[in-house]
Amino acid sequence: MEDPEESVMSREDGDGGFMTWQEEDLVARLPGVMRARKAAGLDGLVGDLQAIVINTEREKLEAAVAELLAFTGLAIDEHFSTTRTQAYTLRIPGSPAVIVKSRLAGKNPFLPFNQAEKARKLPNTRLETFIFGCRDIDAYCEIQRERGVRFQTDEVLTGPDFRFIQTVPSPYTGNSLGFIEWTGQGRSFAPSGAERRPITLEKPGHSYLANIGKLDHTATRVRAKERNAAILEFLSLTNYHFDFAVFVKSLNSITSVARLTDDAFAMVFTSGIAPYREGEDAGPTENFIHFYGTRVHHMAFSTDDIDAVFAELVTHGMEFLVKLVGSREEGLKQTFSMPFPHTMIVNEYIHRYEGFDGFFTRSNVEELTRATGRQ
Ligand SMILES: [Fe+2]
Repeated sequence: MEDPEESVMSREDGDGGFMTWQEEDLVARLPGVMRARKAAGLDGLVGDLQAIVINTEREKLEAAVAELLAFTGLAIDEHFSTTRTQAYTLRIPGSPAVIVKSRLAGKNPFLPFNQAEKARKLPNTRLETFIFGCRDIDAYCEIQRERGVRFQTDEVLTGPDFRFIQTVPSPYTGNSLGFIEWTGQGRSFAPSGAERRPITLEKPGHSYLANIGKLDHTATRVRAKERNAAILEFLSLTNYHFDFAVFVKSLNSITSVARLTDDAFAMVFTSGIAPYREGEDAGPTENFIHFYGTRVHHMAFSTDDIDAVFAELVTHGMEFLVKLVGSREEGLKQTFSMPFPHTMIVNEYIHRYEGFDGFFTRSNVEELTRATGRQ
């Protein structure tokens, strides 16, 4: 008879007692990818996450920014536009920035990834890009082009404070990875020639918002059969390493974690174990992809005093997919909001006790995963 806990989850470090094809395939391919990255001279070139970029429909840009101001600790740092883009940079000290923008002109290269049944009503809305620091962008581009990586521009783009390039969207995730080499004194994301715009949106003065801190991780949902390709592609483009995976067999779900360092932003991929099949219960992850496409499902913000913050968010009208789960004893308390109407992204609020580095606890992983099936 199966150990009841083992039927719930198994870490991909060999204690699980069963190997899916995903584990066997990843174990076989991972060392080669890491060796090739090192041999190409990429180790040490790419650093920590500097920003994420969320694109919205043009008429929803201000509303999307207002949602983040009202329900996270983020505040507006800059507002600028070019002939092609209008953008707000939102920041919290010690966190990657969140850039919220809309296209004013030009083609949207992410459009093919925004066509799923429930996503196509907002065809330009997606968390599109993860921007990582890079200490030598020319060397990086040369090496990666040689390895077949395709970027969205032939040239590196410039601003007063940076040089920047980004990949075409990944076929596995629909996400692009950007690389920024800071060259100026400041940390502005405004490109050369951008016009500074006034900041008229106000951040609500609620004191509890100060307890919602840095971006801890995001979770990108990918198809079961593309899970390994997505992870290996991400590792080959960054200096991250594969950390571990947790399998929830009862809900057909794998959560896989890539890290740079223990305290840096974690890149999480969630997939099914078995693929989506029409008419069968594929579980919340594969169902989500069926309706919304591959995309970032949630952004997790590290939160202090999470009981009080949760109560205040409820009082101020926020709706949640699940109540606050976990405990100090288990190392973690967390919850998921309902998806934001103007970005379709869920906010996770996560309180880590004494540096706990997991993403859920044994007692609540099923409840959390199941809750995401409500959207
Ligand atoms: Fe999460």
